[in-house]
Amino acid sequence: MGDLARLLKESWSLVEEHQDKVAGYFYARMFLSHPDLRDLFPVHMDVQRSRLLGAIVTAVQTLEDPEKFDAYLCGLGRDHRKFHVEPEHYEIVGGALIEAMRYFAGEQWGIEYDQAWADAYAAIAAKMLGGAETDPNPAYWYAEVMAHERRAQDIAVFTVMPMQPLEFRAGQYVSVEVPRIQPRLWRTYSPANAPRRDNSLEFHVRAIGNGWVSSALVRRLRVGDMIKLAAPMGQMVLDRRSTRDVVFVAGGTGLAPIKSLLEELTRYNRTRWVHVFFGAKNRDDLYDLAELNRLAARYPWLSVVTACSEDPTFPGEQGNISAVVARYGPWNEHDFFVSGSGPMVKATLKTLAELGIPSMRIKYDSFSEI
Ligand SMILES: Cc1cc2nc3c(=O)[nH]c(=O)nc-3n(C[C@H](O)[C@H](O)[C@H](O)COP(=O)(O)OP(=O)(O)OC[C@H]3O[C@@H](n4cnc5c(N)ncnc54)[C@H](O)[C@@H]3O)c2cc1C
Ligand code: HEM
Repeated sequence: MGDLARLLKESWSLVEEHQDKVAGYFYARMFLSHPDLRDLFPVHMDVQRSRLLGAIVTAVQTLEDPEKFDAYLCGLGRDHRKFHVEPEHYEIVGGALIEAMRYFAGEQWGIEYDQAWADAYAAIAAKMLGGAETDPNPAYWYAEVMAHERRAQDIAVFTVMPMQPLEFRAGQYVSVEVPRIQPRLWRTYSPANAPRRDNSLEFHVRAIGNGWVSSALVRRLRVGDMIKLAAPMGQMVLDRRSTRDVVFVAGGTGLAPIKSLLEELTRYNRTRWVHVFFGAKNRDDLYDLAELNRLAARYPWLSVVTACSEDPTFPGEQGNISAVVARYGPWNEHDFFVSGSGPMVKATLKTLAELGIPSMRIKYDSFSEI
């Protein structure tokens, strides 16, 4: 371990168990000395679940070598423009963090720790600022809601039209904010279409309980509302050079990026067999089945298998979609794309590993950690 890494770990271990208090102090300090910064953060701030503080500590500690994480940090810096973060804010945040740690470490804090954190933070901030400066795209795009449809109790499908073209690749996701309902809260959602000539984007969203952003998008969004979109991200894209057949595995609204990839394939595919496995708890949540069946009827290379895990009279397959995939096959020569909730993705990856599918043939996006 290098000297810098040792100092960072050693000093963090002094305050680690008071992490919540460090976070509270950090924000209080920052907002007291720079009240204007409060406006960058959501109204309902859950300091304990603060993404910023945890992220900085992780970044500073694990990204010992900023060169290695160049692309990630440049992307993070570009992305921070959507929060209205300006270059001068970096020093304030870095300073507040070190002060908070010093306060809770008490006498055990050493002067060499100050320097270690300042150096590591500065290196990361420089990379982030570099990324922000060189991004030719706007910090975010305004997009008008053109259509909004409830497809199931908790699921909405809606279409938006960005005011300026937003380039993305099929299978990627974008950040979304709903300023009228939940200002300054950003979450990621996957367009369900391949890039279109008119630039419109379709989203499939499930309201997660009273989740801040998802319930706003499903229950309160109206045609004519303006939402904000930012920075397409993600690697779950098609490799056009691959000649292997394709298996798509989608759980619930995890279908969104899969639909996008499928739409891209409809534009050029003639030779690859494509299997879609679409699962949900009950049949109502298979909210886009009519459209999938229409595609399957039109494209001879496409087949669709549906499954419900909690709907015993559903006429399709029964069980979790990961188990259903294993009932079909063999899958030795296929490219896999998996998308859905954390547990669904985890279970599917486990099944695929048991089937001996090499991980380099699997791309996936998990919607949640749990
Ligand atoms: C790459 C990516 C792409 C995504 N694409 C889509 C998409 O196309 N469609 C879509 O509907 N969602 C998608 N999501 C999920 C989305 O980003 C939000 O996490 C989700 O909508 C919940 O946000 P919220 O603000 O409503 O909930 P929050 O207010 O953040 O959370 C509410 C509570 O629910 C818990 N929670 C959050 N998410 C889940 C979950 N999935 N299952 C169970 N509990 C959860 C949280 O821990 C919290 O306690 C995607 C996520 C990722 C990472
Ligand atoms: C080393 C520097 C920094 C790192 C590594 C970092 C990292 C992160 C990460 C990973 C997130 C979560 C991203 C997301 O949810 O999309 C985040 C959120 C955020 N960051 Fe930063 N950040 C840094 C500096 C700053 C600075 C200087 C500001 C200016 C005040 C800032 C303001 C925010 C805001 C407003 C959010 C969203 C609100 C929240 O989730 O708490 N960040 N940061």
